[in-house]
Amino acid sequence: MVSRLRKRGASVTVVMTEAATKLVAPMSFRTISDSPVHTQMFEEPRRWNVEHIALAEWADAMVVAPATGNILAKAANGIADDYLSTLLLAFDGTKIVAPAMNTRMWENPATRRNCHTLLEDGFAIIEPDVGRLASGAEGAGRFPDPSVVVEEISSHMHRDRSLEGKTVLVTAGPTREHFDPVRFVSNPSTGLMGYSMAMAARERGARVHLISGPTSLAEPRGVHMVRVTSAEEMKDACEGLWDRVDILLMTAAVADARPLRYSENKGKKNRDDLLGPVEATPDILANLGPRKGERFIVGFAAETPGDDALENARGKMQSKNADMMVLNEVGGEHSAFGADDNRVLLLSGDNCEELPREHKRILARGIMDRVVKALPGAKK
Ligand code: C5P
Repeated sequence: MVSRLRKRGASVTVVMTEAATKLVAPMSFRTISDSPVHTQMFEEPRRWNVEHIALAEWADAMVVAPATGNILAKAANGIADDYLSTLLLAFDGTKIVAPAMNTRMWENPATRRNCHTLLEDGFAIIEPDVGRLASGAEGAGRFPDPSVVVEEISSHMHRDRSLEGKTVLVTAGPTREHFDPVRFVSNPSTGLMGYSMAMAARERGARVHLISGPTSLAEPRGVHMVRVTSAEEMKDACEGLWDRVDILLMTAAVADARPLRYSENKGKKNRDDLLGPVEATPDILANLGPRKGERFIVGFAAETPGDDALENARGKMQSKNADMMVLNEVGGEHSAFGADDNRVLLLSGDNCEELPREHKRILARGIMDRVVKALPGAKK
């Protein structure tokens, strides 16, 4: 992170807690940052006041990465009992935390509460990923790829609050259409694109409702989360919020078909007609589109390569009354499903722009930038 930030032209000074110095030698950061490293141990107590105030005035942004549950708790409560926490209290620029910890600590009500306080106090949170943790276990709390963290730091530093006062509805993930208690029709969507869109909207100051099908992702902090299973439930949740919505980001990969029959008992697997007849699920976007009013609508189209992808996506944009369509490739060599990165074509009116392959969290910010610019009344 330090060298990536420096490559972008930033001057970086590293502050290490005592615990951090046990994991990494301060000299390593001294070399990478080309500037003195501040540690609790080596500072002369008499000079603290002057030093931390000077450092607090020097920096434009302060990033705690990785942020432990402990520093989140201290920052949320204004506790200043070491160099880092004192500096945080003395600093009034852009404050960013990138939490990384064990899943149980991340999901703990105290940590949730602290994150909400920090968001209210104007801190930005870089959400942890779900994945393999230091303990070897899998779960939410993993430090994201440094390229993602640096990109998010940079976007927080631009302090774009262009969606303040706006309500954004994001749908994400697949839906499941059950035909018995354990079996369903679905697709391999992970929800990462939708969750990333929700984070990108929150970052710009929007009130965000995230309606999610089943995923294994962690709930982004500071967004209102509604969990659903089927297309019908997703439709009801969207309808329920529709009056309040300014911008709809319809990222969900809604299952296209649902079984007509549902059996309370698990069906026997050697039956030929286990699934039985199917019908189309309600097209949520096509239902909301005609009631668009002043809202801005973004649809997502997943097309297999070789088909007339562009033509199909344009057709969907028109028929579903969307202002913008994000076209993903699925099923081919570079399938968007299940991957952390993606490349998309962004369609609006007659324009078509390619956003090159990036991590979905970075890509989502690129898409949000275009949405913000396309909003009525936006500065062109
Ligand atoms: O028609 P297709 O599924 O390709 O359209 C994709 C867009 O329509 C996505 O934005 C998706 O969320 C939305 N959609 C929907 N309800 C469905 C199917 C798709 O809202 N049943």
